[in-house]
Amino acid sequence: MSNDPQAVQVSRYPVGPVTADDFELVPVDLPDVGDGQVLVRTTWTSVDPGLRLRLRVDAPAGYFPAFPLGRPMDGIVTIGVVEESRAEGFPVGATVWHSYGWRTHAVIDAAEVAMNGLASLRVLDVDGVPAQTYLGPMGPMGLTAYAGLHVIGAIDDDPRTIWVSAAAGAVGVLVCQMARQLGHRVVASAGTDEKVRWLLHDVGVDAAFDRHDGTLGASLDQAAPDGIDLYFDSVGGVHLEAALAAMRPFGRIALCGSVGDYEREPVGPRNLFLATSKNLTLRGYRGSSYVDLLDEMQARVRSWIEDGSVTVAETVYDGLDRAPQALSDLLAGRTVGKTLVRLAE
Ligand SMILES: NC(=O)c1ccc[n+]([C@@H]2O[C@H](COP(=O)([O-])OP(=O)(O)OC[C@H]3O[C@@H](n4cnc5c(N)ncnc54)[C@H](OP(=O)(O)O)[C@@H]3O)[C@@H](O)[C@H]2O)c1
Repeated sequence: MSNDPQAVQVSRYPVGPVTADDFELVPVDLPDVGDGQVLVRTTWTSVDPGLRLRLRVDAPAGYFPAFPLGRPMDGIVTIGVVEESRAEGFPVGATVWHSYGWRTHAVIDAAEVAMNGLASLRVLDVDGVPAQTYLGPMGPMGLTAYAGLHVIGAIDDDPRTIWVSAAAGAVGVLVCQMARQLGHRVVASAGTDEKVRWLLHDVGVDAAFDRHDGTLGASLDQAAPDGIDLYFDSVGGVHLEAALAAMRPFGRIALCGSVGDYEREPVGPRNLFLATSKNLTLRGYRGSSYVDLLDEMQARVRSWIEDGSVTVAETVYDGLDRAPQALSDLLAGRTVGKTLVRLAE
């Protein structure tokens, strides 16, 4: 592969499922490094379902902006190594994260506030943890899981029954493990028997089912006969509908995402009145709105990784040219844990 700077850009907005043909890998020119700037060479970048919401003329209101056609895709958390620096506090050789996404190199203003402050240029402590952990458990995925449980789910010492959908994915598997660490009962759902077995035997959830087996309602009745107190929703649609039916009074639903709707016409829950009749709290949120919890989350997750009580799961694609295929596979449920693209160690 070429050592010249390259970037992935969107060549057309997909209709239906994303394919690798919706993107192209192109050479890019790098500006000179100015005062207060650094040149970073990418080592790892992230692949996320939310990117699908930006592959259209207008992204959902309030969300990160759409990716313009024919331009590098900014606004994806990425890890790299500083190769040239004219910014204090960001020495050559430091491992950093930034928001410049699917490219081999980026010239970055150290003072720029990126992605609500979540992905502003930051030096990472990679002593004892692999750098890419900062795209998963110690990064945006960890923050999303942590804020979803603690702020939106308002969990405390009272043991709760929690249903986690898309539980074998990047956020889901962290929610499962964080909730188990804190003594809650976790019911997990995913899209294959293999993922279900992994969740039960390696991740250590209390019950798990394949979302394709029978109805969601019947699966939930079996896995949580007394109902659920908290539903961590990554899917929306019929999953949210099943959760509303299974919720206990005064339960909570953390609306983290609705991946089931990203590539097709959205389906709403038909039983929303149950939120009223059962006094439920449904609350949407974005991890990037809780950057103030980042240090606390990272300290706790680091200790769980170090003592082996949290399993770190990754699906890795090698080479920037593989990023579009990785996104297509992620949305089709063919990846486990955090989906990553490795450009260099
Ligand atoms: N609010 C925030 O700040 C925030 C931040 C990050 C992510 N998110 C959201 O959190 C969710 C999970 O993100 P992630 O990065 O952890 O992705 P992920 O779970 O690693 O990958 C997405 C998973 O969604 C499942 N899926 C795809 N289509 C589905 C469908 N039609 N019905 C049910 N499940 C389907 C697939 O798993 P199975 O086939 O195994 O079910 C797939 O593996 C997404 O909704 C994402 O947008 C929100």
